[in-house]
Amino acid sequence: MSGPVVVVHGGAGRVDPARLPAHVAGCGEAAEAGAAVLAGGGSALDAAQRAVEVLEANPLYNAGVGGSLTAAGTLELDALVMDGRDLRAGGVCALPPFAFPIRVARAVLEDGRHVLLAAEGAAAFAREAGFAPGGEEMITARARERLARWEAGRVGEGWAGGTVGAVAVDGAGHVAAATSTGGTVGKRPGRVGDSPIPGAGTWADDGSAACSATGIGEAILRVGLARGVCDAVAGGAAPQEAAEAAVAMLQERVGGDGGLILVAPDGRVGVARNTATMSHAVARPGEPAWTGS
Ligand code: GLY
Repeated sequence: MSGPVVVVHGGAGRVDPARLPAHVAGCGEAAEAGAAVLAGGGSALDAAQRAVEVLEANPLYNAGVGGSLTAAGTLELDALVMDGRDLRAGGVCALPPFAFPIRVARAVLEDGRHVLLAAEGAAAFAREAGFAPGGEEMITARARERLARWEAGRVGEGWAGGTVGAVAVDGAGHVAAATSTGGTVGKRPGRVGDSPIPGAGTWADDGSAACSATGIGEAILRVGLARGVCDAVAGGAAPQEAAEAAVAMLQERVGGDGGLILVAPDGRVGVARNTATMSHAVARPGEPAWTGS
C-alpha cells in the first residue's frame, strides 16, 4: 500500500483486555479524522495534528485530558509537531493544563521564533496565542487512581503508557509527525520525556520518514529513537523492517520498553512494539481505518 495515509498510536503499554476494544477504537476514530483532513486537501501536518487532537480529547489516553499526574498531583504536558517539508518543529514541555497541547505546539511552530517552550513560559505563550488554560476538570478519576497506586507501591513507575501520536503523508508526498503525552506517572515535576524532543520521540523529514515513538522516555531519549529509525529508512530499510529493528535496539541497548509508528514519503508504514499492547490504526482517505493492538 502507498500514497496518502495517517497512522496513529495510543501508547505502548499493557492495556487491560476490558478496556482494549475502546482503546483501539479511539485510535481508529483519530486516524479517520486525520485521513478526512487529507481527503479535503489538507497537509500532512494538519492531518497529524488533527489525529492527535482527537486522542487528546479522549480521557482513555495519557495526553490532554486524562494525562498522567506528577508526584505533586499536577498535570505537566509534553507535545511536539514536526513538518517534514522544511524540518520546522514546535513543541511544549512541562506545560500546565491546556486542553489541546498539540495546538499550542502547532502555534509554537507557526510562530517560528523558538522550537520548544517549557513550563510557565510555555503557558504564557499559550495564553498570548489565545488558548484558555485548563483546570481540575482535565484530571480524571483514573489518573488519580494511577497516581495513588504509584504512591502506594510505586506501581507503574516510569510508565508512560497511553502517550498518543500520529504520522501522516499527504498527496504531495510530504510527511509530518505529532506526539502528545502526560509523561510518566508520579514523575518529578519538571521532568521532560522524549515526546517533545525532535529526534527522540518525534521526527519528520521528507528526505527519510516520519515517526512518533511511545514508551519509557528516558530510554527513548538516550537512543534518539525517532531520528534513528527514519535515517534507517533513508538508508534503504523497509519501514516495517526499520521499525522492528529500532524497537529491538531500544530494548537491547538501554532496556527500554516502547513502540513506534513510522511512515515513509511513499506511504509505506511501519508499526512495532516490545510491550504487551500498543493500540494503533492506519487510515487512508476514503477508506475505513485498519486497527490493531
Ligand atoms: N514517552 C513518553 C514519556 O516518557 O514521557
